[in-house]
Amino acid sequence: MTRTLIRGGLVITAADEVHADVLIEGGRIAALAARESDTAAGWTADTVIDATDRYVIPGGVDAHTHMEMPFGGTVASDTFETGTRAAAWGGTTTIVDFAIQQMGGSLRAGLDAWHAKADARCAIDYAFHMIVADVNEPVLKEMDILVEEGVTSFKLFMAYPGVFYSDDGRILRAMQRASANGGLIMTHAENGIAIDVLVQQALAAGKTDPRYHGEVRHALLEAEATHRAIQLARVAGAPLYVVHVSAQQAVAELITARDQGLPVFGETCPQYLFLSTDNLAEPGFEGSKYVCSTPLRPREHQAALWQGLRTDDLQVVSTDHCPFCFTGQKDIGVGDFSKIPNGLPGVENRMDLLHQAVLDGHLTRRRWIEIACATPARMFGLYPRKGTLAPGADADVVVYDPHAEQVLSAQTHHMNVDYSAYEGRRITGRAQTVLSRGVPVIQDGAYVGRAGHGQYVPRGTCQFLG
Ligand code: URP
Ligand code: ZN
Ligand code: ZN
Ligand code: ZN
Repeated sequence: MTRTLIRGGLVITAADEVHADVLIEGGRIAALAARESDTAAGWTADTVIDATDRYVIPGGVDAHTHMEMPFGGTVASDTFETGTRAAAWGGTTTIVDFAIQQMGGSLRAGLDAWHAKADARCAIDYAFHMIVADVNEPVLKEMDILVEEGVTSFKLFMAYPGVFYSDDGRILRAMQRASANGGLIMTHAENGIAIDVLVQQALAAGKTDPRYHGEVRHALLEAEATHRAIQLARVAGAPLYVVHVSAQQAVAELITARDQGLPVFGETCPQYLFLSTDNLAEPGFEGSKYVCSTPLRPREHQAALWQGLRTDDLQVVSTDHCPFCFTGQKDIGVGDFSKIPNGLPGVENRMDLLHQAVLDGHLTRRRWIEIACATPARMFGLYPRKGTLAPGADADVVVYDPHAEQVLSAQTHHMNVDYSAYEGRRITGRAQTVLSRGVPVIQDGAYVGRAGHGQYVPRGTCQFLG
């Protein structure tokens, strides 16, 4: 068995910060021991990585990505190969992507299609959620089987009528099923029916620019849908995970529910923490680069998101990585904002942006690891194999240089998309070496990984429930 030793770093997990050496054996963490302890001094290894003045952290777990997803008349521009490579560059070692059930199709067919895209192509480990587009009796039965097999979470859409939209009755039925089989329902909480009325009215009034995307997708229509999803989950006796929360009024709904002791969880994304409607209003067609749903909000909303992350009313930051090129994809919506493919790139930037948030005083270092690694792993049944550094865990380890300076740019990023949503932003901190199950993927700032190294990981059920 190959042995790797990471010496001299500050090991940070959600629970602790300790100066410790980490011994890796056969792809797993074998042991940790205090720096300069007799135990650590006695260790030998085939490879020794010097982590002096560096952090040693668990690889990031990005629980919300859409690699090569067909959407808005085009396909998200990162494949599983390019997207997972970019993720590794950014210190992320596991993604949970969304397989999609086609209208009239089975969950199994959707899952098979996503395996066909991902298997043998990923640089890092991957798992799947299932987008349920068409709730019916056979599909409800299939949910039970998927939970058994390790696809334990299901996204239902209250937005996008005619595409992924489910009405309240269908959502309730899926929640009842999840309540019985241990699955976790995830909702895209926006009132899509009302939004579509506002979209048509805006277009009829000649409001076609990207910024109107933000105006018609009103914060109150996110809050309303969040409230409704919570009540439906409560009636069904099911836990609920609300994806990509952006509105402060939606955060308030989550706080109310959690104060009542309900098993309700919330995720936000870097774009809502760092970007705003100011970006959507950039001149020309630049605003299209920032079109995603839920939409970017006015700056005032950001304080509620940061506070929610600190108070644990929001538990996870994932990227909702869904890249579309500015040229040839976003421009489908020139003259009609409703045709701009929805989604932002970010899988490579999440760990670094959140490290910057530590430096800016929004988060502690341990909370950074908690919201980016440990909690997503627990939420989606991957812990402690993923999300922490403990004996027995997969050796998904990042040696992180907290002093490295970088400028985010499309010129230097590794995502297969022709722009960066964070172009020109200065960040302190960067992954220096990234191991996936003990195997180097990034080594001293160079990619040494391999498409196909990444393995599919069947998941357990949510570990925040009884
Ligand atoms: O704009 C977004 N979020 N695109 C990806 C699909 C979704 O709703 O998550
Ligand atoms: Zn130190
Ligand atoms: Zn969504
Ligand atoms: Zn998404």
